[in-house]
Amino acid sequence: MKKETKCIQAGYTPKNGEPRMIPIIQSTTFKYDTSEDMGKLFDLEASGYFYTRLQNPTNDYVAAKIAALEGGTAAIMTSSGQAASFFSVFNLAGAGDHVIASTSIYGGTFNLFNVTMRKMGIDFTFVDPDCTDEELEAAFKPNTKCVFGETIANPALIVFDIERFAKAAHAHGVPLIIDNTFATPIHCRPIEWGADIVTHSTTKYMDGHDATVGGCIVDSGNFDWMAHADKFPGLCTPDDSYHGITYAEKFGKEGAYITKCTAQLMRDLGAIPSPMNCYMLNLGLESLAVRMQRHCENAQKVAEFLNGHEKISWVNYPGLEGNKYYERAKKYMPDGTCGVISFGVKGGRSAAEEFMKHLKLAIIATHVADAHSCVLHPASSTHRQMTDEELIAGGVAPDLVRFSVGIENVDDIIEDLAQALEGV
Ligand SMILES: Cc1ncc(COP(=O)(O)O)c(C=O)c1O
Repeated sequence: MKKETKCIQAGYTPKNGEPRMIPIIQSTTFKYDTSEDMGKLFDLEASGYFYTRLQNPTNDYVAAKIAALEGGTAAIMTSSGQAASFFSVFNLAGAGDHVIASTSIYGGTFNLFNVTMRKMGIDFTFVDPDCTDEELEAAFKPNTKCVFGETIANPALIVFDIERFAKAAHAHGVPLIIDNTFATPIHCRPIEWGADIVTHSTTKYMDGHDATVGGCIVDSGNFDWMAHADKFPGLCTPDDSYHGITYAEKFGKEGAYITKCTAQLMRDLGAIPSPMNCYMLNLGLESLAVRMQRHCENAQKVAEFLNGHEKISWVNYPGLEGNKYYERAKKYMPDGTCGVISFGVKGGRSAAEEFMKHLKLAIIATHVADAHSCVLHPASSTHRQMTDEELIAGGVAPDLVRFSVGIENVDDIIEDLAQALEGV
């Protein structure tokens, strides 16, 4: 199946007389005839469901669709993108371990790694995604357990060199994890470039309608845990908390990582999405391919309009010729990148603020990547306590406006921008 077909068909195939849409199994509990039947599930001897905190059929239909889209062998849904990022790393690294992450990742992920996971005893080294080979090499330590990057970084829109980082990670016997939220598998499939694990905030384009918060982790099934058994005892030695199972032995390369994530992390931390949310997410996934195409077409036209505008000082969009990441974006995302662009309004912080006041169609929101055009000026909202100097030091220009281009008619979006800029 092609990706457009997978959006509609993958993950769930109804049998004779069964509902066409994925059923919403809104049940915490599943009934069994004998204790032996249930015991087999607890021992992971049989597959099936016993309690929705660990697994639910509706969620699994959607996970299977996303796995198919990404070209992976197994996937798990989580209650948020944050939970997906956390689980993806925590499934491999614990106290005393070390992780390498790109400096250009979503701020929430950076905080999760740099503050919360450090408190758990995990050490992080952040590397510039455009660092030299020597700098990247120097970041690895004997206790490094994985490398983490973002296909298109939110909000910097830096395109990550997946192939290069995958090679470096593999040379050190560790997997590469890629947050593919902004590109989606419609525009980039990181596994084809060597990534081992892919994460998503499904809250963004995958849901696409401002309706549900969620996340997903997909395993490529390519990483050979047993070949690096000394680095990954959690996967390669018996789990005493789960009847002595050795995940990599019992479930192989294809299933070990996600099974461990379900059996340990979901069991203990419970960041499971509701079946209803997964059902709604699936509605979004069905139209993902057509929406992504429209998001990119619209964003391209908006970027070109802004690029030539006298009141705009700069435009950052990887689809724009001349952008620092244009060539890399063409390599990894030949059909388009994403619908998010950023730009500066001449006149700095106050001009940007003034411009935002005049917008009529694009709403002011902290969210990005859904059907509705929305806009954020970090200097007057999320970062308003910071001075211009502090903003610049933090990599956020005072005049920076982040614009998430929706799938409305692009003429209406451009008209709105034009009239708002006139007001400045
Ligand atoms: C790239 C990226 N990853 C992860 C997240 C976290 O996702 P969520 O808000 O669903 O927890 C976000 C949220 O904005 C994001 O943009």
